[in-house]
Amino acid sequence: MKARVWIKLVLAIAVISMSGCEKKGATVKKPEAKTEAKEIRQMSANKESFGKTPDGKQVDLYTLTNTSGIRARITSFGAILVSLEVPDRDGNLADITLGFDKLDGYLGVHPYFGAIVGRYANRIGKAAFKLDGVEYKLAANNDVNHLHGGIKGFDKVVWRLEDLGVKGAGAVVKLSYISEDGEEGYPGNLACSVTYTLTEDDKLEISYEAETDKKTVLNLTNHSYFNLAGQGTGNILGHELMINADKYTVVDEGLIPTGENRSVKGTPMDFTKPMTIGSRIGQVEGGYDHNYVLKSGGGTLALAAKVYEPTSGRVMEIHTDQPGVQFYTGNFLDGSVTGKAGKVYQKNYGFCLETQHFPDSPNKPDFPSVVLFPGQLYSTETVFQFYFFIK
Ligand code: GLA
Repeated sequence: MKARVWIKLVLAIAVISMSGCEKKGATVKKPEAKTEAKEIRQMSANKESFGKTPDGKQVDLYTLTNTSGIRARITSFGAILVSLEVPDRDGNLADITLGFDKLDGYLGVHPYFGAIVGRYANRIGKAAFKLDGVEYKLAANNDVNHLHGGIKGFDKVVWRLEDLGVKGAGAVVKLSYISEDGEEGYPGNLACSVTYTLTEDDKLEISYEAETDKKTVLNLTNHSYFNLAGQGTGNILGHELMINADKYTVVDEGLIPTGENRSVKGTPMDFTKPMTIGSRIGQVEGGYDHNYVLKSGGGTLALAAKVYEPTSGRVMEIHTDQPGVQFYTGNFLDGSVTGKAGKVYQKNYGFCLETQHFPDSPNKPDFPSVVLFPGQLYSTETVFQFYFFIK
């Protein structure tokens, strides 16, 4: 027991020093659930059935747990993060992601709740791009533009289980998918995998790998909608957000970047210092749905964003090696979707911070390149770190 307390203390100190937390007067604490499960909490990785697709394919649900009581559920359909339960400052668990209890919800049309998005996260202008002079035409599934990989993107396919278990300090599930040459209009047979790792120090790591046999473009992300007070409990306007970016990519009316990266300084886009999401959202037409140009420039794991929810005390930090993050405030949620536990999702009931390459990069030679060559390994990582502030 004593040893356990020491481990928690050391981890708490590690979290504090790691996070570079600047919140005045706040004590940082590692999450610890006070549930029935306290005695039996352990690292685990389990599998159960989540049902079948209409064409009869088996779909699984994987549950990863750690000793703080954090529990992540992932399904092989769309490699979707179905739920993420995290303790608050009093040890009460809440599911902090929007989505559905059952596979049926994910089989229908939905706004990419928890999904792995591919081959290309966000938009490609006029649903086309050129590589070596050859034009590739994609589905125009967002007006004239291409959005989130097309009609049947990576969020709508069944992934194959590659690995499931507790490895070192993490509970791991690794899923793979082979996207055939020409799928949704993209060139090259693409073999890709996504690995979710829930660590003992309260991180959910999502890492992606891919290889192609023909020059292609690729931009993978996870499209989770978060509400750190608990899914379906209300809007996210009271969350405090910091985004580690002093520029964003300006877009036209179709949300395609114009090519200009504009300073956030003195505008409602500025989250360089923590601000509540709702403080200036009324000044942003339609709400936030913008790609931020991260200060890190991508390439190495760096702090992209940090979110604090005052009533629960939950804090989520996002670290990524990607050059951008799409901040989206669930502007298109309108009460038409009933999600987990019968909750109705209204406008701004969730926020997304989708780590990514910039939208329309295949048509923007000045943006960081999204081209993947045969023989090259696509390998990226995003880490969600959880802890909380005591009042
Ligand atoms: C992204 C886009 C939004 C919207 C959502 C899904 O975040 O930027 O415009 O398409 O996905 O509804």
